[in-house]
Amino acid sequence: MMTVEEINGIPFKLGNDDWTFCFYEYLTPLFLDDDGHLSESIKKLFLSLTNLRKNNFRKQLHIKSVPFLVGFFFDEKKIRISSPRLGRELFLITELENYSWPEDSHKEKFEAFKGHANKLASLKIADFPSEIELLTSNYKLPNLLTDKKYTADIEVENKKLVKEILGHLNQYNPSLFERVSDFGLSLTAEYALIRIHLLKFLAILPSLDYDLSGNEVKRILLESVRRLLDDSKTAKVKEKKGQSKAIPLFLSFPLSLFYILASLTPALILARIVRSSVRFLAKRFIAGESIELASESLGKLYKSGRDATLDQLGELVVSEKEADHYLEEVLKLIKGFSSHVPKGSKNKAGINRAHVSIKVSALSSDFKPYAFDYTYKSVAPRLTKILLEAKREDVFINIDAEHIHYRDIVFQIYKKVLLETEELKTFSATGIVIQAYLKDALIHFEEVLDLAKARDLTMPIRLVKGAYWDAETFESDAHSVEAPQFLNKEETDLHFRQLIIRTFEESPYLLLCLASHNFSDHCFAKVIQQKYYSETPEFEHQCLHMTYEALSTSLGKMGWAVRNYVPVGSLIVGMAYLVRRIMENSSQVGVLTIMRSHKSAKSIFTPSHVHLDKKEKGNLKREVTSSGLLKEFFNTSPVRMYYENERGWVEKSMASFRENELSQFYKNSFKLEGAKIDIMSSSNTDILVGSITFGTKEDAERAIEVSSNYYNQGLWPKSKWQERSSMLLKVAALLTLRRNEFASLIVYEA
Ligand code: 2OP
Repeated sequence: MMTVEEINGIPFKLGNDDWTFCFYEYLTPLFLDDDGHLSESIKKLFLSLTNLRKNNFRKQLHIKSVPFLVGFFFDEKKIRISSPRLGRELFLITELENYSWPEDSHKEKFEAFKGHANKLASLKIADFPSEIELLTSNYKLPNLLTDKKYTADIEVENKKLVKEILGHLNQYNPSLFERVSDFGLSLTAEYALIRIHLLKFLAILPSLDYDLSGNEVKRILLESVRRLLDDSKTAKVKEKKGQSKAIPLFLSFPLSLFYILASLTPALILARIVRSSVRFLAKRFIAGESIELASESLGKLYKSGRDATLDQLGELVVSEKEADHYLEEVLKLIKGFSSHVPKGSKNKAGINRAHVSIKVSALSSDFKPYAFDYTYKSVAPRLTKILLEAKREDVFINIDAEHIHYRDIVFQIYKKVLLETEELKTFSATGIVIQAYLKDALIHFEEVLDLAKARDLTMPIRLVKGAYWDAETFESDAHSVEAPQFLNKEETDLHFRQLIIRTFEESPYLLLCLASHNFSDHCFAKVIQQKYYSETPEFEHQCLHMTYEALSTSLGKMGWAVRNYVPVGSLIVGMAYLVRRIMENSSQVGVLTIMRSHKSAKSIFTPSHVHLDKKEKGNLKREVTSSGLLKEFFNTSPVRMYYENERGWVEKSMASFRENELSQFYKNSFKLEGAKIDIMSSSNTDILVGSITFGTKEDAERAIEVSSNYYNQGLWPKSKWQERSSMLLKVAALLTLRRNEFASLIVYEA
């Protein structure tokens, strides 16, 4: 028999206001304390999202690590909660519309359920506050959208500075190599097909190092070209527009010709040509295999009054040998600096000229974001070695940011090493990256600030936007969770600037190293500093090696402290880096593409202008988790174990499982004839997970028979399909609700 969810409404106070929280009855244990009140952690979460009291909106929230869709209704002071993307509700409402309810009370319940879901569904997306608006009000950040202090009041000075810097930019004379590679990059930006097939090929190539005959390289190269040409033909037939359009004749013709010539070329020769071409392309972004081979790039920088941070390429290594190798290479870089810059010399921002950037995920072959102690044990000794060597050599060590999965554990390891290593307590030549594209960048910012305060030292922070956007937004989509990043580029730009201001505010504990390829960010920071924070010290400007060399040299000509990020290492370990640079250079919203195609700064509007304009026109990109309601199947999001908060709920569940659920006898309603046995944990044989009775062969046969009878003759086949499917959906919802419990059982057992 069919019923739908009962909707509970409980009153609660949010600040001084009376609100009602509407949720499904079966979720009670998740939301309410034992005494029947909405739990404090949930209230706190709601409060942070209701500061900006404007229009009604909905948003995905993970409550005790379980994802929900939550609607905020300011007009009726109600918070309504539903399953993710309203999936189960929309399905049931559509399918039960004409269902003949056996009782009026059931029909009423259905109408209430429908009313609740429809309220959530009917919210107008265009009215939702943007992420940056929510964040700004939540953390009382400088309001760059409307506050005159950051807009009209700085306009004159800003324009003057922009003009000056553009003067330098326009004088820049790129080398032939830059022009040619720029042309290549602009093709990848304009044609998604070229980008996709090129990136795929580049991703495979390093793993073909074993292929001495060149046969595989040839095969895969030909396949890539053939696919590119085929896909292009399809795009033409389908009259695809924009990014997915077909490649034009001036490209497809030489490519077809190349295909023929390449098929006729012996594999050995072709592979050699291909490998050296890719190495040549990589040279655009990677300075050399070692500090010695990068010395030409270093020399150029020093000659123009700029500095470098040397980045040892490598990340996420897969063997301890590799992790040791990474460590050795970093130590070599640290020592190698002495032949390039005088020991201990500083730039105008007071930061060591000798400067190395590292990726902490390369310091362990088994980097587990959810296992701090375990990961610490393998990373900390290597990291400590690096920092101690840097102290001896007076070289700066910067901790790079990577995927969001690693952000928190990297910081925690770094922090522990700095705070607990006696010799490092006064070591000030070290800092870390903050990625402004993360919606929770500010929380990380505050943690870094606390560390600087705890150490009572100035900590230079490299403020970047972030280089892992594509991978992470796609991954989030696949798991049906909100992306950790802003989806609108200008929101990142705005938050970046908010963090610039926050950094000035926290001087002398924090010192800004501004890493951006947008000249207007550099001007904005300079003007804000001159106008409002003139007592703060000079800050550093950073660019990536050969990514927008015109800007880097122009910043130098302004007389500012400039540092280029110069990667060294082999192509195979640098491939991920190279791929990120190509993505960045082909991004449709990135400043690099804009500057290359327009050759004029006029097309660069301020991020607040872009944001307000998009908002007004309803063009803001919205999270699909709250905008794309879906009654079809989509993935249930996994617990994000790399977030301390979500992991905390799993840990809590494991502790409570251990206390209350372990060692019980799992009763079975079949009368089984086998032996009763104890199941001990395989990781700790002292733990009795539980006891069960084994069945015999006859028991198993009987169980199958009983089940198939129910399936074929019992209530199940007699009930309507709507009843069956709603029951299965309910089971799925209950499993999701209790998934930490089931996970605990599995963990203890296995
Ligand atoms: C990256 O590796 C530059 O650290 C940045 O993409």
